[in-house]
Amino acid sequence: MDKRLAGKTILLGITGGIAAYKAAALCSRLIGLGASVRVMMTEGATKFITPLTLQTLSRHPVATDVFDERDAAIVQHIDWADSADLAVVAPATANMLSKMANGLADDMLSTTLLATTAPILVAPAMNVHMWEHPAVIDNVNILASRGVTFVEPGSGQLACGYVGKGRLAEPDEIVEAVVTMLVGPRPLAGKRVLVTAGGTIERIDPVRYITNDSSGKMGFAIAEAARDGGAEVTLVCGKTEVTPPNGVNVVKVESALHMYDEVMARLPQIDIVVKAAAVADYRPAHREEHKIKKKSEALTLELIRNPDILHAVGAWKEGQQGKRKLFVIGFAAETMEVEKHAMDKLARKKCDLIVANNVSEEGAGFGKETNIVSVYSPQGLVEHMPKMSKRAVAERLWLLATTRMNHLAEQGDGKGTKE
Ligand code: CTP
Repeated sequence: MDKRLAGKTILLGITGGIAAYKAAALCSRLIGLGASVRVMMTEGATKFITPLTLQTLSRHPVATDVFDERDAAIVQHIDWADSADLAVVAPATANMLSKMANGLADDMLSTTLLATTAPILVAPAMNVHMWEHPAVIDNVNILASRGVTFVEPGSGQLACGYVGKGRLAEPDEIVEAVVTMLVGPRPLAGKRVLVTAGGTIERIDPVRYITNDSSGKMGFAIAEAARDGGAEVTLVCGKTEVTPPNGVNVVKVESALHMYDEVMARLPQIDIVVKAAAVADYRPAHREEHKIKKKSEALTLELIRNPDILHAVGAWKEGQQGKRKLFVIGFAAETMEVEKHAMDKLARKKCDLIVANNVSEEGAGFGKETNIVSVYSPQGLVEHMPKMSKRAVAERLWLLATTRMNHLAEQGDGKGTKE
């Protein structure tokens, strides 16, 4: 479970615009990430969405009236102002922006925003002409110059009938901004990651095929950890035993040839490739159209080589000559002389990192919940990971990969991709 906002208290101010209903989704996402949310609504906001909705979602009373002091031991707006790690105003009307810019304190929310020393995040929503009005522009500039952060409105069909800029940013975008402000940017934010997982199926006839023991668990854990790290993830998966993670773009494939096509076609839009799939090295030379009948005592199956997808990815990267940076992570499943074979594969397939495991070791390899891996770069061993869950391996791998990518980026334009 992703609880990145655990221990954080967020003051959520909702003002009176049609987008107020979206604040409910925002509130529940912040709570889902572990935050404690205190909701304040202006009177206008209560016309669009009921305080009871927000009280139920936040599991706290909703404050609407500055004079409604229920607890004699505290002054509520000061208490909430002091306890907040972050104040979020979403949606913020033109009126609320004006009050904030001018320091007005004539309702519960504006008063609390004056009283808080917590950082403030504002997501405005209004008619396109209001958003473009010089008064609103001035107010936004004043607030920005005081350190207020904005999640700008999106463009599109507005509730008032106009098409243009002014509609509230999507709750996911606001959540991303909240997370960035409270815990820092996610390490893979803005990165497009392609992960292959599972085994390929090489058909002999309509009912028979050659495959391997890969369960897809390692690749899925890598895709899931990349998603949680903020990446946009495409998961190209063959035969797997488990359900793919949510929130990633799943592309189902069967054969190595099919996987080759789906991976290669996507490379121009990808920043990082992780080849965790167990790709069959050979496929039947002929795929019979009809089920093979048993006739003779022995049957010989002719197999021919499949393309090496990782090799092709490495060659594609080299062909870009630094114009297009691609970070490539390969896998090496070995049963002996792990380091020698892994380093050889890394060099041949032009990988930036290779994750090697001895699949004959107890607690490593196909189908298991755990893995034991060693990660190598072109310079040699980077880290040996003792037996740990595949998810823990995935998280550690992303840490090593981002460190390495930053290191290569520091080495400068183009030079970074060549060792
Ligand atoms: N790989 C690939 N396409 C293939 C074979 C392997 O992309 N046709 C990739 C795997 O996804 C993995 C890496 O190459 O990331 C190494 O796979 P592995 O099976 O360990 O090695 P092979 O290259 O097949 O070499 P060998 O069978 O000789 O060990």
